[in-house]
Amino acid sequence: MIILVTILLAILIYFLWQKWELSRFEVNRYQIRSPKIKEPVTVAVIADLHGFSYGKKNERLLRETADMNPQAIFIPGDMLVSKYPDTYDTAYEAFEGLIKIAPVYYSYGNHESRLRDPERKHHLKFQQYLEKVLALGVTVLETESRSICLGSNEVVLSALELELDYYEKGMIVPMEESYMKEKLPLMKPELFQILLAHNPAYAPRYAAWGADATFCGHNHGGLVRIPGIGSLISPQLTFFPTYDAGEFKIGGHHVIISRGLGTHTFHVRVFNRAELLAVEFLPES
Ligand SMILES: [Fe+2]
Repeated sequence: MIILVTILLAILIYFLWQKWELSRFEVNRYQIRSPKIKEPVTVAVIADLHGFSYGKKNERLLRETADMNPQAIFIPGDMLVSKYPDTYDTAYEAFEGLIKIAPVYYSYGNHESRLRDPERKHHLKFQQYLEKVLALGVTVLETESRSICLGSNEVVLSALELELDYYEKGMIVPMEESYMKEKLPLMKPELFQILLAHNPAYAPRYAAWGADATFCGHNHGGLVRIPGIGSLISPQLTFFPTYDAGEFKIGGHHVIISRGLGTHTFHVRVFNRAELLAVEFLPES
């Protein structure tokens, strides 16, 4: 009897802890120095919101984002959950607030890419959502590059929308070495290069392509983070993914993988608090 009560109590405590854990996020800060940056600037990175709302209409997320006074807000995908259209509305409401803070650049994750298929259920609703998001003034990027200004810095912002094959469950589909250059020719290589690429599994390819700073999401921190080891599982159901969360420096190129702000399907976060990123780009000296 005592064992049963102990187990039930442990389960109750676990569920209460997870409910508390999933209702919070932290702000994590990174600094990237480069001789291509002339003036210090800050950008916010919001990954994998998945229709979550921190307070009414995401007021807590909006407040923390505004507090960092960003010159731009980068969103490397998965603002919604493709199979739940109510999350499109929550995502839209977040955009309504974010666009009042700074220019917003939104690239697709696997959830958005899936909905671009006209055969897909909810495709029409997604199209309507996208039209509304564009009408707000959000810049939606497919696979493309454009030069933008962050303060007085001219930089190149690129986005990569991966084919859905690259999200295959249970494996990491190999990416050809030439894939990035063929799909996304490097524009103005003399400028600081920022890349929004949802899937972090290909971090070495992004670095080799020439991105000075890449922002990824997708992994949600691996649901459970084991101290000293890292993420337990990726959304593609691969165990202990190499590029799981945090910053990786590959040949002098920075790849920052957000643990994301939302979850879906498995609402679990153990030692893996949701995060909003504040990234400072600084001159080298
Ligand atoms: Fe994703």
